[in-house]
Amino acid sequence: MKKYRIAVLPGDGIGPEIVREAVKVLGGVAERAGVRFELEEGFVGGAAYDRFGTPLPDQVMELALSSDAVLLGAVGGPKWEPLDYSVRPERGLLGLRSGLGLYANLRPVVVFEDLLDASPLKPDIVRGIDFLIVRELLGDAYFGKPRGVRIENGQRIGINTMVYTETEIRRIAKMAFGIAQTRRKKLLSVDKANVLEMTGLWREVVTEVGRDYPDVALQHMYVDNCAMQLIRNPVQFDVIVTTNMFGDILSDEASMLTGSLGMLPSASLGEKTAMYEPSHGSAPDIAGKDIANPLATILSAAMMLRYSLEMLEEAALVEKSVRTVLKEGFRTQDIRQEGAVVVGTAEMGDRVAEKVRTLPA
Ligand code: IPM
Ligand code: MG
Repeated sequence: MKKYRIAVLPGDGIGPEIVREAVKVLGGVAERAGVRFELEEGFVGGAAYDRFGTPLPDQVMELALSSDAVLLGAVGGPKWEPLDYSVRPERGLLGLRSGLGLYANLRPVVVFEDLLDASPLKPDIVRGIDFLIVRELLGDAYFGKPRGVRIENGQRIGINTMVYTETEIRRIAKMAFGIAQTRRKKLLSVDKANVLEMTGLWREVVTEVGRDYPDVALQHMYVDNCAMQLIRNPVQFDVIVTTNMFGDILSDEASMLTGSLGMLPSASLGEKTAMYEPSHGSAPDIAGKDIANPLATILSAAMMLRYSLEMLEEAALVEKSVRTVLKEGFRTQDIRQEGAVVVGTAEMGDRVAEKVRTLPA
């Protein structure tokens, strides 16, 4: 029997409850496909800090490095906000990203027909949305130096640095062009080249890389315009490639097109083990109440099957199972609609897992 080793890192807030549901769904996949998932849990983020005094214990990094894939919930919460940045839960996540060399974060934005009314935008605007944000994940202000807060001339001064080398830009651009070739062959690069020199370089290098991909139509857009276009006419997009910070912001915005931040999965790919996590945060305000939407995490697990485990049919099956449960009218509270049945986190997971076991191939 084929075996896969998966590091499961639930993290904080709603992390444990949504990851539990994705694990249920993987249980269904294992049964159906006749494979074995060896799941090994680890603490990351605030949960790790509370136990070990660090948001990313060495053994968790080793677990991630030695696994076939990492499934992560979410990190962070108000409890840890007073901590120094160097040990905050978010630093655990950033440490995993850099330790695994995960430079590309893929965030697919797809509107399910049955959720058209769940979006705060009109159905006519969101119908047919199917695009992918390719967010660079290891550079920019997230990792740039100098950084910090210090005293200068008797006052506090705060500094972060937006920085990219051309090697980093080229690497993510190649990934984005390659993906665009498998889709509708349209790539939009988002920058702020009218003001920021660094993103002027970004634009130049992406254009240079584009010469090797003559079949892909490359366009550029300023990030402020892109933020507006995402609301005005989101169907125009296919693949969007952008910097770490702009990608962070635009992907939260884009998630609302799908009805809820709770619907947006993500895959972080790079040099070593890939990591899969919902695009949303740890939502401490609703943690432990069985109301969080597990679908972003379940759909992230589907991405894991596709990109890390080469289980393409099973990935499609999980996605179809999610669609079917939505079609049958079941919703978590964040995507509630008139006439639909609101179910909790666990029931949503049970229903998707059941479909994975029983849907005809
Ligand atoms: C995300 C999150 C993270 C980020 C946080 C939790 C560090 O917002 O994955 O989008 O900013 O990258
Ligand atoms: Mg974010």
